[in-house]
Amino acid sequence: MAVQISPSILSADFARLAEAAAAVSNADWLHVDVMDNHFVPNLTLGLPVVESLLKATSLPLDCHLMIEDPDRWAPAYAEAGAGSVTIHAEAARAPVRTLRQIRAAGARSGFALNPATAIEPYEDLLGEIDMLLLMTVEPGFGGQRFLDVVLPKIRRARALIERHGGQIWLQVDGGVAAETIERCAEAGADVFVAGNAVYGAGDPAAAVDALRALAAGA
Ligand code: DX5
Ligand code: ZN
Repeated sequence: MAVQISPSILSADFARLAEAAAAVSNADWLHVDVMDNHFVPNLTLGLPVVESLLKATSLPLDCHLMIEDPDRWAPAYAEAGAGSVTIHAEAARAPVRTLRQIRAAGARSGFALNPATAIEPYEDLLGEIDMLLLMTVEPGFGGQRFLDVVLPKIRRARALIERHGGQIWLQVDGGVAAETIERCAEAGADVFVAGNAVYGAGDPAAAVDALRALAAGA
């Protein structure tokens, strides 16, 4: 499994997003948290900012939609040019259709589960999914404490993915830092979102390299 690091600009200065992207040019993705103040109790940014970011960076955008009605909004992010678009199981009403629309628009399809949402009911959907995102905090805010309670689900998800051919990426998001990334990698995650651990560091690029080394060595 190749380790990939996706720094979350939620922890960056929203008035300097282009600089924040440039500061992590050694990363694999730029993680963009779209929040609508309904699905989660926080409001961030939407499609116009994503469209501007696409022009401002060559990093592919990993758009994580924490919004109600992702069926309505997700395809537009893929059509705009996001490399990956992730919708939440708890919010999607027609996930098969929406995941297919994301792929049809040329992006990777992502499917996210909150900490208390089980993976097993979604096993039959794995063929529609390019990346499974397991939240390791309750979504809504950066800088929260990593929830160890999710580790057994990461292991079960990795086993399910292997049974289905091993192509699906397994992303973790929330509280991922030097102290927690090895646990996630050992459990089977291969794509790591990190907000505070990257943008809270004096040298974001060095933080990306350090996280990558820890995950690869786990
Ligand atoms: C939380 C977001 C995360 C957040 C992670 O709801 O989905 O992407 O930016 O931030 P850290 O790494 O600081 O927990
Ligand atoms: Zn996120």
